[in-house]
Amino acid sequence: MAAMSMNMVIHRAFRRDLERFLDALASFRDGDRARADQLGTAWDNFDAQLTDHHEGEHAIAWPAMESIGVSKQLLATFDEEHDRMAEALAATRGAMATFRTTATAADASAARSAMANLQTITVAHLDHEEQEIEPIYLQPMYQQRIAHGTRGFPWTGGLWHGEVSYERGICPVTERLYESDLLLFDVCRVPLTTRDVDDVADAFEKVIQNLDRLRALDGE
Ligand SMILES: [Fe+2]
Ligand SMILES: [Fe+2]
Repeated sequence: MAAMSMNMVIHRAFRRDLERFLDALASFRDGDRARADQLGTAWDNFDAQLTDHHEGEHAIAWPAMESIGVSKQLLATFDEEHDRMAEALAATRGAMATFRTTATAADASAARSAMANLQTITVAHLDHEEQEIEPIYLQPMYQQRIAHGTRGFPWTGGLWHGEVSYERGICPVTERLYESDLLLFDVCRVPLTTRDVDDVADAFEKVIQNLDRLRALDGE
């Protein structure tokens, strides 16, 4: 489940960036071409990251989750939500392209409407994904106590007679690490190359070397 901690970090970045786009588009000054271009560049990056994230989940995370007991039905629901997100992304992509070309306040406003719709759809999906798959004992299999069949096996069926709790809060330190303090991901695996791994190490070093600047930016 290490990949899911990375999932939380990525989700937070998406939520943060959507808010930033809404703020930036709301305060856009008519005709400010340089600003429209900056926002267009930021959008291209966001668009690529969100597309890559949900397509990667479908191709890599869903099969891994299915193998540990997450239901096919839930994964199909996630895919439907991804499809709605992809539609909203396409609409926003078009609106942002127009805005970048014209740099008018009217097109900034149209792009903001598309972005607000994208935010609603995306945040609802991110919330849903987190509720269902993090942490492991809050997954439906444990909450509904059905791992196999329809009758609650193996909690029922006479093989086991104990009592167990799967309530949120039973592992507060683990939950805190999982939700905010610990960052784990599988960096040493195919198809990543040594150069990809070096890129990740460089990114960590870059952040660490610029912590003061980043903290200052956060306060702006
Ligand atoms: Fe995700
Ligand atoms: Fe997702």
